[in-house]
Amino acid sequence: MTGLVDVVVMAAGKGTRMKSALPKVLHKLGGRALAAHVLDCAAALGARRAVVITGHGADQVEPALAAHAEGLLPLQFVRQEPQLGTGHAVQQAMPVLDDDGVTLVLSGDVPLTRPDTLQALLSVCGGEHLALLTLDLPDPTGYGRILRDDGGQVRAIIEHKDASEAQRDIREIYSGIMAVPTRLLRRWLSQLDNRNAQGEYYLTDVVKFAVADRVPVHAHRIQDALQVAGVNSPAQLAELERGYQRRVADALMAQGVRLADPARLDVRGRLICGQDVEIDVNCLFEGEVVLGDGVRIGANCVIAHARMAAGAVIHPFTHIDGGTSGVSVGPGALVGPFARLRPGTQLGAEVHIGNFVEVKNATLADGAKANHLAYLGDATVGERVNYGAGSITANYDGANKHRTVIEADVHVGSNCVLVAPVTLGAGGTVAGGSTITKDTPAGALSVARGKQVSIPNWKRPAKGKG
Ligand code: UD1
Ligand code: MG
Repeated sequence: MTGLVDVVVMAAGKGTRMKSALPKVLHKLGGRALAAHVLDCAAALGARRAVVITGHGADQVEPALAAHAEGLLPLQFVRQEPQLGTGHAVQQAMPVLDDDGVTLVLSGDVPLTRPDTLQALLSVCGGEHLALLTLDLPDPTGYGRILRDDGGQVRAIIEHKDASEAQRDIREIYSGIMAVPTRLLRRWLSQLDNRNAQGEYYLTDVVKFAVADRVPVHAHRIQDALQVAGVNSPAQLAELERGYQRRVADALMAQGVRLADPARLDVRGRLICGQDVEIDVNCLFEGEVVLGDGVRIGANCVIAHARMAAGAVIHPFTHIDGGTSGVSVGPGALVGPFARLRPGTQLGAEVHIGNFVEVKNATLADGAKANHLAYLGDATVGERVNYGAGSITANYDGANKHRTVIEADVHVGSNCVLVAPVTLGAGGTVAGGSTITKDTPAGALSVARGKQVSIPNWKRPAKGKG
């Protein structure tokens, strides 16, 4: 039992090394802002609230994080201007924190800390002690070092710039994450000064005040550097992205998903898989994607906001984006290669969508097929319809979109233009090359094109005469 937890997220820093107009904590990792990962972690811990300290880019950071936190956990912002150090940052949050809880200090640019690690840190804190998350680094340059006494008890954190040569040899570093009873934190923060190499108010000075007050200080020492790695540059962002993707890939494989190569998968959202799902190399998933039992995804597919029923097969180089209305692919359907499914596409069972076919805001009932080079937009397509190569629905008159209804068992020949609004009656056939502007009767053959004529002995004009 860890009691009431208030998470304080430091996010006022500039992120100069990103060399970007976008505030650092809004840069994306796995499709979510860095600071959104931290808020998700706070929510997973069951935190009572999160308080985000903003400064640089606050006008951008606050609305973005408020939108992310909606329905996730209560969120407040406090501003720190100017930025006088990490201790000064947390001081800004004290007015909105209550003394009955524990404050968990996190950084908005450290996205990959696991909730179970923080839970363990909170247990060590136990609502009464100061708990520091630490780890040993082969190269601890730049970090605060953990100073211990002969008995191994933590005595202080010394910042790299303030450390002696001997202290700089210490490999155990402070991660930037601590859990501390709020009432004690309040007292210690009021004692901070900025007499140090950087002229900053160091949060890390609370350790020596805890020692002076005989409050036990515990280091929760972990091994996994990824969990405390911060993002300062595009190179570090890319490195953490790979670390994150590897974690996602490992979790999918542990659950039985067969990935051709876990290093060549990108999930920028949530990928939910049934049993016996296979995913080939270089696939990118965005938003929520649900793959039913036995679904196979070919190489080089981009799939966003979509659901595939059991046994659906997506062939290589297919692009699916459900946007806000979603895409659903029925059981046993075959899509691609080189197909494009846009928002509002709903494919029934065993539907076939072949190469260079684009579908938008259209429903295809069971067994319908559009196998080559076609466009179906704003259409309702019946069961077993066969839609020929090169045919399109002309759904847009320049101002409004209109619907095309193709009833069950219709065959549409190649290179037809179906000018919406129009309905093709059940079982009918449309001759290749037709431009259909009027409804067609059920069961009929409809032909709408110039009649073929042949002029005998036709002489082509010749060059160099007359
Ligand atoms: C801090 C720790 C150091 C630790 C390291 C881990 C202090 C004094 N030192 O170092 O012991 O090893 O983190 O990464 O705490 N921030 C603000 N306002 C400020 C200053 C910083 O919001 O005035 C934010 C930054 O945006 C960042 C976080 O606090 O998210 C940490 O600041 P940073 O400058 O990266 O940490 P260091 O001082 O280098
Ligand atoms: Mg600093």
